[in-house]
Amino acid sequence: MCGIIGICGTDFVAERLIAGLQRLEYRGYDSAGIAVIDHKALHRVRAAGKLENLRQSYASAPIDGLTGIGHTRWATHGGAEEHNAHPHGTEAVALVHNGIIENFHELKATLGDVVWTSETDTEVVVHLLEAELKTGADPERAMIRVLPKLEGAFALLICFRDYPDTLIAARQGSPLAIGQHHGESFIGSDAVALSGLADQVCYLENGDWAVLKPDTIQIFDAANKTVTRDFVANTVQIAGLGKGNYPHAMLKEIHEQPGVIGDTLHSLIDPKTLMINWADYPQSQYLRTPLIQFTACGTAYYATLVAGYWFEQLCRIPIRHEMASEMRYRDIVCPQNSLGIFVSQSGETMDTMEAMRHWQELGGQTTAIVNVPTSSLAREAHHTIPTLAGPEIGVASTKAFTTQLTALHCLAIWMAEQMGSIPKAQAQSMVADLLDLSGKLVAALSIIEDYKIIAKEVLAPASGVFFLGRGLNYPIALEGALKLKEITYMHAEGYPAGEMKHGPIALVSPELPVIFIAPSDRWFSKTFSNIQEVAARDGNLIMLTDQAGTQAVKEHGLDHKVRCITLPDVPETLSPILYSLPVQMLAYETAVCLGRNIDQPRNLAKSVTVE
Ligand code: M6R
Repeated sequence: MCGIIGICGTDFVAERLIAGLQRLEYRGYDSAGIAVIDHKALHRVRAAGKLENLRQSYASAPIDGLTGIGHTRWATHGGAEEHNAHPHGTEAVALVHNGIIENFHELKATLGDVVWTSETDTEVVVHLLEAELKTGADPERAMIRVLPKLEGAFALLICFRDYPDTLIAARQGSPLAIGQHHGESFIGSDAVALSGLADQVCYLENGDWAVLKPDTIQIFDAANKTVTRDFVANTVQIAGLGKGNYPHAMLKEIHEQPGVIGDTLHSLIDPKTLMINWADYPQSQYLRTPLIQFTACGTAYYATLVAGYWFEQLCRIPIRHEMASEMRYRDIVCPQNSLGIFVSQSGETMDTMEAMRHWQELGGQTTAIVNVPTSSLAREAHHTIPTLAGPEIGVASTKAFTTQLTALHCLAIWMAEQMGSIPKAQAQSMVADLLDLSGKLVAALSIIEDYKIIAKEVLAPASGVFFLGRGLNYPIALEGALKLKEITYMHAEGYPAGEMKHGPIALVSPELPVIFIAPSDRWFSKTFSNIQEVAARDGNLIMLTDQAGTQAVKEHGLDHKVRCITLPDVPETLSPILYSLPVQMLAYETAVCLGRNIDQPRNLAKSVTVE
């Protein structure tokens, strides 16, 4: 959840560390800090709150050196205050940490007379290392002695006053990427941290630790044997990381969707044959799967709920959905050769990672649908399908979700066609529909005034919001409620429209707007009955629909009670992709009206690498 970065260089590092922290701020923004070594002294500057506060503290008392580390925090142990901000340290050691040292309490008890300066789990590692240094151990020896004592999932980065050209790093669960450029070494939580610093990166594996000097990188495995890790191109472009000409990264990412969905499609489809292009997919194994289990968290989980409808209908296979945080601890049954599909934007979500490892231990096959191709999930899955959303910086996931839907839909079509449950012509026609989608997405994004008016007049003043949908669009109701909660802090609930009469209808009142996601599909007449039920109780109604749905509202004389947002017509199976855009836009415009911090909502972080 936290972001860490380190530079062991030949030029000053402070400004570069702070710039790196800016790229990492999406991982947490409760506090930030840097430590540098200068003339055999360790200097630290830290500040609670956003990175801007650190910049101000740094500007009023600048520090610098050729070796340094930095941290942006999502608080786990200890509040978001300066004394809990990283780097933690003494005069001899400074350390930044991502993850949790689970046995910190027991370890503290072994340390005797230490003056503790924070409530963090991290500080114990500082004192364990210092105790080793005091016995005369050098940094490497100190690491070899301390690392086996630490339990939990973590990434550590440490610098030492008496070894000014050395950084030491360790990975147990939480990722670390290393790069080198022009005689300097760089390390960070991910390739985003190193973009603009290193063109090639390698990733530490679990249990690895490393010694970085300006011109050398030595990597050791858990048994302290020297190992090599392959370098790959760091394809993250700094240019893609900002807000562009938009006021918020989230809005930029919403508007990127027609393009990145197209990119994802073109990476998967042969435009000449209109077939999904998976020549090297392990057909014999996967096509015999007795069931498909989908596992993910948050928005990615909702993408898998949509996918369940597609796979069930097209492939005629039993489907199971699991939330990763639950599944990883379940005594779950994995029938022989079963396929598990694990979906994640970051590919570093701890619960999804552990759920996938659990499935693999049970003998299951694993496919990961991941936006970060170098992530741990992508590297450990048997097969990976990359989504080409590009870096997603807004904490509220938008383009990652719709590209996940796109990839999942392609996989469903491919499997169904390969299994013979749909004819080739049907598969080709569905692919053609997908390729035809981008103009409709652009049209859905062009009706900005509709979203603004409803946000301002209906949603922002409301006490809470209900999102209702049926079938393929029930998960979009869940996603709409999550988006609104995340960036407006309003209470919102997503519900299957047909379930409303079993209790939630008691909440209907003019203060609680109800948003129906209701394209004129096979579920429409049922959903329309639910709309009438809410209208009959003077509910405040909004309907996301198409021309036919808007017409039905008029024909039933409900146009004075229901505000319609009319979207382009799309084939039924693709409506969840299109209808994701208006729910994102409504959440965004409501958050604008309420003056929320849209790209950095309170209490959240982009990548959840703790349990
Ligand atoms: O990186 P992942 O896709 O694995 O992340 C999963 C969730 O943490 C994520 O989707 C979260 O729910 C988003 N903030 C939703 O906007």
